[in-house]
Amino acid sequence: MPQLYINTIGCQMNVYDSDQIERALAPNGYSRTNQLEDADLVIVNTCAIRAKAEQKAFSFVGRLARLKARKPGLIVGVGGCVAQQEGERILARAPQVDLVFGPKAIPRLARLVERVRVQRLRVVDIEDTEGIEELDLSSGFRDDGQVARFVTIMQGCDNFCTYCVVPYVRGREASRHPDHILAEIRMLAAGGVREVTLLGQNVNSYGQKEKLGTFAELLTGVDQIDGLDRIRFTTSHPKDLSDGLIDAFGRLDKLCPHIHLPVQSGSDRVLKRMNRQYTRAVYLERIARLRQVRPDMAITTDFIVGFPGESDADFEQTLGLIETVGFDGVFAFMYSDRSVAPASGFKGQIDDAQKKERLQRLLQQQEVFTLSSNRALIGREQEVLVEGFSTRPGLAEENTPHRQWSGRTPGNKIVNFNQDPDCAAEDAVRPGLMVGVRIEKAYSHSLWGRPIWVEEEPGGLKGDTCHAA
Ligand code: 5AD
Ligand code: SF4
Repeated sequence: MPQLYINTIGCQMNVYDSDQIERALAPNGYSRTNQLEDADLVIVNTCAIRAKAEQKAFSFVGRLARLKARKPGLIVGVGGCVAQQEGERILARAPQVDLVFGPKAIPRLARLVERVRVQRLRVVDIEDTEGIEELDLSSGFRDDGQVARFVTIMQGCDNFCTYCVVPYVRGREASRHPDHILAEIRMLAAGGVREVTLLGQNVNSYGQKEKLGTFAELLTGVDQIDGLDRIRFTTSHPKDLSDGLIDAFGRLDKLCPHIHLPVQSGSDRVLKRMNRQYTRAVYLERIARLRQVRPDMAITTDFIVGFPGESDADFEQTLGLIETVGFDGVFAFMYSDRSVAPASGFKGQIDDAQKKERLQRLLQQQEVFTLSSNRALIGREQEVLVEGFSTRPGLAEENTPHRQWSGRTPGNKIVNFNQDPDCAAEDAVRPGLMVGVRIEKAYSHSLWGRPIWVEEEPGGLKGDTCHAA
């Protein structure tokens, strides 16, 4: 069987696309490997959001030249946003690359790879076709035991924030038909997946253009799928966060009490120059409404620091917003100049040293809130969906020298715990089971606790663990 190695860079949408790439190539006989050396076909699924991600892609492609010299039959493909943005230029820059394809070419990938393999041609497909071409669901879906999966519900973006490449590389916003989405999630749930995260650049505007119903209606449909226990989604744009969607948090049992609501800046002047189409006051009002509906709602956000023209006073407004909201967690980025995005031509570009300083100050400011939101869970029981082993070594103070289990709370916080080795076999923890964990320690990026109960089977009875005895 020919082997396929995929290197995924960037966001969750790329993680989903990489799975779709694997599915698209299953009819050609490819099976996925984690060993680069074994691969007959290597695909780099690239990200163009910031310059760093793009550099990472090119440095990996550079390494592949040596591999190809040793293995001349190797096929090298570059997919994703950098492929869409650069097209033919990648072939000129990297002679080891055989195939360049954009995100919309994934359903055509089987034919593209065959052209490269049989005719030894170098092929580029970055056609920006309208609408969404669906992959055949029956083709080669690998059940790899994952309990939480991503499902893309829409592609592209029509918002044109002035710093962002997405509308240029992922094209116009287009939503998948709910029948396709629900069928895919039903299939995942039947295969043991208990949590899905619905993905789109702006899920709040799902279906509006095509009149496919609202996002809240889609969520209602997903909520009814048997075997599925948790629904998450990302990303919401604050300007389109409707009351209907906020109410869904109070209405749908499976919808987890967490929202990622990128604000980008706390200054109205900067928000305007970013073309975000909401003000700080509107953002705060939406947060208040969310907390009214679900007081336990975890709220996370994205910030960009050092946007062109951001003054000290603007930045202070951002720090002030962090104080006002008390986010559970933030992702913060230094503004990265992207030549296709309008802000690239804006006056007042800020130097790297100042961006770095602002980033550090912002992260420092947030640290207190992240820790205090984690500490608030100490002593409380949290339902954790076990995903696998933790990558974090156990700490001496937790008396956990060995591997620990890891999963997430409904609020999306990572919880690590270890099982008493003397526990009865029927209490055995495994991925895909819910475990009730009493939280004992809180760190910046994770929580630690002791299990109190473990499901006997997915969705089954809760058996006590030794710790409870
Ligand atoms: N520079 C820095 N950060 C960016 N983001 C998007 N474009 C840029 C850019 N040019 C950030 C935003 C967005 C997140 C996914 O990436 O904060 O929400
Ligand atoms: Fe980029 Fe703005 Fe669209 Fe998000 S909403 S993908 S930041 S253009």
